Amino acid sequence: MHHFQPKDGLLYAEDVPVTELVERFGSPLYVYSAATFRRHFQQFDSAFADLDHMVCFSVKANGNVHVLKMLAEQGAGMDIVSGGELHRALAAGVEPKKIVYSGVGKTEAEIRYAVEQDILMFNVESLPELEEIERVAGALGRKAGVSLRINPDVDPKTHPYISTGMKNNKFGLEMGQALEGYRLAQRMEHVEPIGVDCHIGSQLTTIEPFMEALDKVLDFEKNLRAEGIGLRYIDLGGGLGITYNEEAPPHPKEFGAAIVGRLKNEGLKLILEPGRVISGNAGVLLTKVTYVKKTPFKNFIIVDAAMNDLVRPSLYQSYHRITPARQSDRPEIVVDVVGPICESGDFLAKERSLPEVEAGEILAVFSAGAYGFTMSSNYNARLRAAEVIVDGDKTILARRRETYEDLVRGEL
Ligand code: LLP
Repeated sequence: MHHFQPKDGLLYAEDVPVTELVERFGSPLYVYSAATFRRHFQQFDSAFADLDHMVCFSVKANGNVHVLKMLAEQGAGMDIVSGGELHRALAAGVEPKKIVYSGVGKTEAEIRYAVEQDILMFNVESLPELEEIERVAGALGRKAGVSLRINPDVDPKTHPYISTGMKNNKFGLEMGQALEGYRLAQRMEHVEPIGVDCHIGSQLTTIEPFMEALDKVLDFEKNLRAEGIGLRYIDLGGGLGITYNEEAPPHPKEFGAAIVGRLKNEGLKLILEPGRVISGNAGVLLTKVTYVKKTPFKNFIIVDAAMNDLVRPSLYQSYHRITPARQSDRPEIVVDVVGPICESGDFLAKERSLPEVEAGEILAVFSAGAYGFTMSSNYNARLRAAEVIVDGDKTILARRRETYEDLVRGEL
């Protein structure tokens, strides 16, 4: 459930007509619903109420500082993958002890930044990385908490680009190497093995792959315990899918019940790293129709948003529902919704049946709150869109639209 619903034939973001938002802030425009964010976070968090746990929102899904702050106020920690994301989380006031840091290529500078800030733990993805953390923490005279990320070799049955827990993926450590890693970590002076981690992929629409991975990680953790290596945390990553079109992923409640059932007597604190399930349907991208172009072969709706604003359709052929802001009864035609970028891969929808629209109308592209703005770029020297948060009848400009000055600022 989200708070982008039509009233009297006009699409609203909570209590504000989206057309009013475009009048005020321009187009294209990312709009987030605060109530939806809170609701999704609380639903997810409460699904694990029977277990000691911490929900670390995955900053890569939506890193706007206002969004992070709103989630931190709900009790969220953060899952980060770069020094930049650490900076964002800290700017939002997130407590360092609620931050976990994943990623295969953490640099020396990034590790130093995170050790200095005293984050909860690094999710370590290789033995050289473990040694680097030991070295950097040693130079700072500190001790860093670590989890090793296990690659459980489980097929998450999602798009190959976002599947991360199979043996040919670059992520995590194969069990044998992970065991070696824990033995090594145990002997190190400046790292402390405190957890075990895995993340198998994104946009998963069934529970089974999660449970298969969890079983493997728990078996592994038992072996560690038998060796006298006791851990406090188990991090199961993110990955729960959402409905873009007709997918029917499990409800967080169902997902939570399955995991809590399995972990109840393990004595481990659970960490989760959801991104999409919290933010995906809490955002829309509004875009204005620039031209309607009909050829003898095809109908194109040319809009002022493009693949630089929302790359998911171009990159993963993913489906995003699109509706006009004004929802009158009109005949439908089959169209491609395309942007102005000079590539045929620049589209938001292909062969989509939509009501006939006119130039100047506003369209809403749904499910754009995760991996929307965060994956946007300046390709074709396009200015990145503004981001707005609607909270009831209040609106906050969460990020202003870029200017031509912004485009050339760094080019000395
Ligand atoms: N934790 C780790 C270590 C991750 O790599 C990811 C996502 C997450 C958590 C959050 O996963 P989520 O709950 O959002 O599924 N750009 C792609 C998605 C890439 C996901 C990468 N990792 C897309 O637009 O579909």
